[in-house]
Amino acid sequence: MHDDLEQRKSQHLDLVQGDVETADTLLSCVRLVHRALPELALENVELGAELCGRQLKAPLIITGMTGGTPRAGEINRDLAALAQEMGVAFGVGSMRILLDQPDLLPTFAVKPARPPLLLANLGAQQLVQRGNGAALRLIEMLGADGIAIHLNPAQELVQAEGDRDFRGCLDAIAGLVEQIGSQRVLVKETGCGIGPAVVRELYDRGVRAIDVSGSGGTSWTRVEQLRAKVPGARELGELLSDWGIPTAACVAAARATAPEVHLVASGGIRSGLDAARALALGADVAGLALPMVRAHQKGGVEAAREALKAHVDALRAAFLLCGARNVTALRASRPVVLEPLRSFIEGLVE
Ligand SMILES: Cc1cc2nc3c(=O)[nH]c(=O)nc-3n(C[C@H](O)[C@H](O)[C@H](O)COP(=O)(O)O)c2cc1C
Repeated sequence: MHDDLEQRKSQHLDLVQGDVETADTLLSCVRLVHRALPELALENVELGAELCGRQLKAPLIITGMTGGTPRAGEINRDLAALAQEMGVAFGVGSMRILLDQPDLLPTFAVKPARPPLLLANLGAQQLVQRGNGAALRLIEMLGADGIAIHLNPAQELVQAEGDRDFRGCLDAIAGLVEQIGSQRVLVKETGCGIGPAVVRELYDRGVRAIDVSGSGGTSWTRVEQLRAKVPGARELGELLSDWGIPTAACVAAARATAPEVHLVASGGIRSGLDAARALALGADVAGLALPMVRAHQKGGVEAAREALKAHVDALRAAFLLCGARNVTALRASRPVVLEPLRSFIEGLVE
């Protein structure tokens, strides 16, 4: 089984180099309003942010992707070092395999790098099956600040070997938050989005950090379609390849539903401008997965550094051009929300 898990993670790294972005984030419907008189110096733009009680120099997280193989280990170490250098948060990929094969820890461990926020990662179904002790063990093994619990029912359904029983996840997450504290738990989707009803349920059970990971970026139903060997799984993957709630709609609806929640916008963030649009809609931090691993696989840590720096520069430029010194001012600059995003948000929050 574990060879399968290793093989699957390896296939994922190859497959995401192809055409796996099948939907629209709707972020292009968010028009930041240009301010011809910014009355600001670029160096005075404040990009600092807080997530899970940690201070970031820029409101960005490289979200959890990989681990379990030597290639994955190199990606984790390089991207974590970059996250430390740039002062942004970093998460490793699912650590499920470590629960039975702790000897694979070096493929997740990021030392000597220490990003300002480091997150372990486990699927919600594994939390149900293995309990809080497993989550705590993973946090300790990694020396992490907390853990991202991922939700991925659509991906599991398309995987021939995937889970079919999604009961008990909310209780398990609530139990974990109760035991280790809300600052150490972030709940994330993996590209299909977290809608306002689930945001409300999570918030009511004590969760205070949510990464909506909406549709429009990496589609895991598409990736599993490409991996599928049996026709049924291939067809379901194709049918559901653009399934999910667009990232922009998730962010606006989540913010309207839970004004106090720490909100991460991931899923199809492909530029600093995308990140600025998500922040203007109510996100505290924007998350990137695919662009970072693609850059790394193309040109190593240097290419990843260039990509991340470009995103931070564009983010800073967007703030300045809106006359916004910080994220509060950016939101107050009142972005214009065009159709179809406007109706999508209305439909979700009604
Ligand atoms: C190669 C790869 C592997 C991933 N593996 C995981 C994982 O193990 N755990 C997890 O929570 N999310 C995983 N994700 C999902 C990302 O963290 C993110 O939620 C999603 O890809 C949307 O962001 P993107 O459009 O920038 O890729 C993975 C993403 C990629 C690209």
